[in-house]
This record gives sequence, C-alpha cells and structure tokens, in this order.
Amino acid sequence: MPEDPRQGRDRPISFFRSRSDRSQAKPILVLEEVYKYFRRDIPTLRNVNLTVERGEFIFVTGPSGSGKSTLLQLIYRQHTVDGGRIVFSGRDVSRLTESSIPYLRRNLGVVFQDFKVVPHWTIFENVAVALEILGTPPKVVRARVAETLERVGLAGRGNERVGHLSGGETQRVAIGRAIVTEPALLLADEPTGNLDPALAIDILTLFEEINASGTTVIFATHDHSLLSSSPHRLIVIDEGRLIEASHGLRAWSARTQMSA
Ligand SMILES: Nc1ncnc2c1ncn2[C@@H]1O[C@H](COP(=O)(O)OP(=O)(O)OP(=O)(O)O)[C@@H](O)[C@H]1O
Ligand SMILES: [Mg+2]
Repeated sequence: MPEDPRQGRDRPISFFRSRSDRSQAKPILVLEEVYKYFRRDIPTLRNVNLTVERGEFIFVTGPSGSGKSTLLQLIYRQHTVDGGRIVFSGRDVSRLTESSIPYLRRNLGVVFQDFKVVPHWTIFENVAVALEILGTPPKVVRARVAETLERVGLAGRGNERVGHLSGGETQRVAIGRAIVTEPALLLADEPTGNLDPALAIDILTLFEEINASGTTVIFATHDHSLLSSSPHRLIVIDEGRLIEASHGLRAWSARTQMSA
C-alpha cells in the first residue's frame, strides 16, 4: 500500500481497511448471539446471529417496531449490545474506545429515511463534511466530492443549496455523504421511506450500483414492492428475532398472514 498522501484514495485510510486487506476472505460483519434490551423484561433483539460476507447486498425487513433500526444502530454503535458481540472488519464494535469510533464511522456509511442533511448548506458542503471531519486535505476533498457527486447523479451541482432539492435529490446527497469516505459497509435505514415508488426504485438502483462497485450494503425497508422481485439475500426481524428468509419474501409473508 502506498503511503504517499498524494495518492489520495489509494492510501490506507484507517486501521480497519489495512487490517481487512490482510483478511479479505473473512466476513465483513458477524453478529453473535446479540441481545439488546431497552426494557428490562423484553429484549428488543434476542439471540441475533448473522454473518455478512464482503460484497453482499442484504435486505432487512419486518414489521414496524420489530428491531430493524436497532440492529443497524448497534452496528454503527449508536447503541451497544447487552449480550453477544458484533465484529466488523475483525474488530469487536462494543470494545472500541471512544477515540476509535470515528474510525468505525469512516468505514461505515449510514443513510437514513429523513436524509439528515443540512438544508442551508450546499450539496458540496453536505458531502464534503464527511471527509473534513477526518482531516482530509481540501484538494483531496474537492476531487473526492466531485467524483462522488458523479456517482450519485449530481455531477456539477455542488453549489446548489440542499433545501431547494426534491426528496430523491436530497437522498442522493445523503448517499454521497455516506460513500465519499469509501466505506466498506453501507447501512441504509428505510432510505426510500419518504419517496414515491418510482423514486424509491431509482434510489434502490443507486445502492445496487454502489454494491456492484464492491461496497457491502445492508438495506432495511418495509417496502415489499422493492423486495418482491429482488435477487438479494433477505433477512426478516420479527419480534426481535432474526429469520433468514431463504425461501423468499413470499414464504415469509404467507406465514405472517396466517398467524395474523
Ligand atoms: N432508544 C430507545 N429507547 C427505548 N426503546 C427503544 C429505543 N429504540 C428503539 N426502541 C424500541 O425498540 C423496538 C424496536 O424499535 P426499532 O426502531 O428498532 O424498530 P423498527 O423495526 O426499525 O421499526 P420501524 O419499521 O417502525 O422503523 C420498539 O419497541 C421501540 O420502541
Ligand atoms: Mg426503523
């Protein structure tokens, strides 16, 4: 790996990446017997086991309140597990020190339903901030943001204020901010929840393109129209338990309708 900072994106940007280079064959993410309790008596997540291989695209679905967001929040360490462990790129996420969390976040992009962009900032500023907080030199920031805006379909629009954009465009900005650091893993929590069906498919397609370029994607959604014709691996969270829907969405839907 070249150490020359002028190499920009080729230089190892964290200990996660340099470690993972040595362990390409290992899963990018492993959850082992994970429990999360927001209430003392009932676990929100119970005995969740999941192995995610590098390059996978995984849909996470399940009823409202079942624990989809909680699962993602544990991975990006918004919360910590109460039992079990989560290993990302060979590191136990719960054991990271406060000072290591930025390194986790650098290798992990997150996209939300409500975008979480700054409306009075420009597109450029909203995307650049993810690099600036890592101390990236301005010249590298400019180049990487320009390249990222191209990837998300916003080439040449860096100077526009985000508050004036449509929902679909705003989500593209948020996706740009999530991928500009070239994370190994991209998490999305209902990223199409505020978009109409046609735009939802556009945004899903963008995630699929990002995945095709090597980024592992975990995409939580309860939009069955996105899932129904999907070739991707599907996991279902139901009352805090993870079910590998190896028989596809239809089998799972039939089961839940029967029990309703
Ligand atoms: N910070 C929190 N404090 C207390 N309870 C919480 C917290 N976060 C989530 N919960 C509870 O955990 C359960 C799972 O919530 P979660 O947001 O993970 O569900 P979800 O599957 O993402 O639902 P939705 O489809 O509505 O987004 C819910 O009962 C919720 O009230
Ligand atoms: Mg949720």
